[in-house]
Amino acid sequence: MISFKDKSSFDKEATIVLVDEQQVKENKFSFQNKDLAQQIKSLQTAGQFAAEKDQSFPLPQGKKMVLLVGVGKKEDLSLSALRVTIRRAMLSAYLTKACSVEIIVHTSDESVVKATIEGVAIGTYAWKKYKSKPKTDSSVDQKDVTIIAAKKDIYTDAVTICAGANLTRDLINDNADVVTSAFLEKTIKGLIKGKKSVSAEILGKKQMEQKGLGLHLAVNQGSRNEPRLIIVKYTGNPKSKDYVALVGKGMTYDTGGLNLKPTGSIETMRSDMSGASAVIGVLKNTLALGLKKNVIFVMAIAENVIGSGAYKPGDVFKSYLGKTVEIANTDAEGRLVLADAIAYVIKNYHPKRLIDIATLTGACVVALGHDYSGLVTTDNDLSRQLIRSSKETDDRIWRLPIYPEVKEAVKSNVADIRNLGFAKGAAGAITAAEFLRQFSNGTIWAHLDIAGTAFVDQQCRLYYGHGATGSGVRLLTHYLQNN
Ligand code: BES
Ligand code: ZN
Ligand code: ZN
Repeated sequence: MISFKDKSSFDKEATIVLVDEQQVKENKFSFQNKDLAQQIKSLQTAGQFAAEKDQSFPLPQGKKMVLLVGVGKKEDLSLSALRVTIRRAMLSAYLTKACSVEIIVHTSDESVVKATIEGVAIGTYAWKKYKSKPKTDSSVDQKDVTIIAAKKDIYTDAVTICAGANLTRDLINDNADVVTSAFLEKTIKGLIKGKKSVSAEILGKKQMEQKGLGLHLAVNQGSRNEPRLIIVKYTGNPKSKDYVALVGKGMTYDTGGLNLKPTGSIETMRSDMSGASAVIGVLKNTLALGLKKNVIFVMAIAENVIGSGAYKPGDVFKSYLGKTVEIANTDAEGRLVLADAIAYVIKNYHPKRLIDIATLTGACVVALGHDYSGLVTTDNDLSRQLIRSSKETDDRIWRLPIYPEVKEAVKSNVADIRNLGFAKGAAGAITAAEFLRQFSNGTIWAHLDIAGTAFVDQQCRLYYGHGATGSGVRLLTHYLQNN
């Protein structure tokens, strides 16, 4: 639980005090505690603490603990680095077994307070469901965290938005055989139950057959779980007829299909529903914030597994749009499911803009690594808006080009289009996007490839611990709030 308070009373088990170099030099702080100011003065005189960046100093105060944390020069402060600093400080406080923590921010700057909130809520998230000793749980909702700042709507909103991102992370982190299409359906129904301005359409196997979502069905052929296309329509601004559609790839597991993934590539593939999970997180946020915007949330859910029914390389399937598709590789399944979802939503819901989000290509990870998601769009305005949201939230994206000649990559000898790009996977992130573009039918469209950013397969990266990051949730929530 995160709460806000105007003034510190230094009565929590741990107090994290952020200080910058100038404050230490002048011995002028944002808190009123002469005793502590005096202690810092002595440390400074002894050359032990000057508030250099990431310099931390524990000061036991009887049974309680004050943790001094330096942020360096105020003018050099990076909000991204601050989130990392807050995450580390919180984890140190938890190591001292503190269950109540107070954080004294060194300035009342709104963006600094917001980054602090995110450092706590995003940074201390940990997936502990399958650990036998939940007593070591360090997740923030188990603790009492007070941030010293005057309570403002943007701060409580920031806490709300982080909770949306953390729901996304829970969905991704849990077992693939737990988070199935039925589980995701139940989760979505739970979120929208009893909410005003919301309606839902849910397509199962039968409805997909009737309507001809041939690509989505093909991908799911080997699975004993049913595919789902779940569409939630939210009308927060009844005066407007304009809707933005968010379409997420929801591969509950991606083995690669008959083009089976090798060891080393398959282990994290329960995260292949990160796009759909991000859309669910944004849905939660939209409802919690009561956004006055019109949004269509789309979760395209399937499981790409092997078995006698699995779809086969070389075969041709007909898409919802009518185009036929040659399956050149069963591991390029995301674009198939998304192509049908995009075409279906455009034909039946007529959104003004559509943004898809997917763990789509390993090529995007090669191109941009793990800190930036790929953005591909033909619309410069939409690009600017998304990049602005990216900068504000530190949910990072980088634009990749798309241009007419890329059409060549997805030409097929036997069908209208094929699900593979240039030889040797050249520009694989872009050719996958080109495949999607050809199903967007002229609607203003942007594609986010979160293959590299959705999951941390190590101890930690930036201010994310091991596992899902919730990438895309803060970005798209900010986008909806501001556009
Ligand atoms: N889900 C994968 C992409 C992926 C790779 C996500 C690494 C997260 C981390 C996607 O379905 C896939 O397998 N793509 C293939 C496409 C190829 C066959 C054209 C890939 O990237 O190798
Ligand atoms: Zn795949
Ligand atoms: Zn996939």
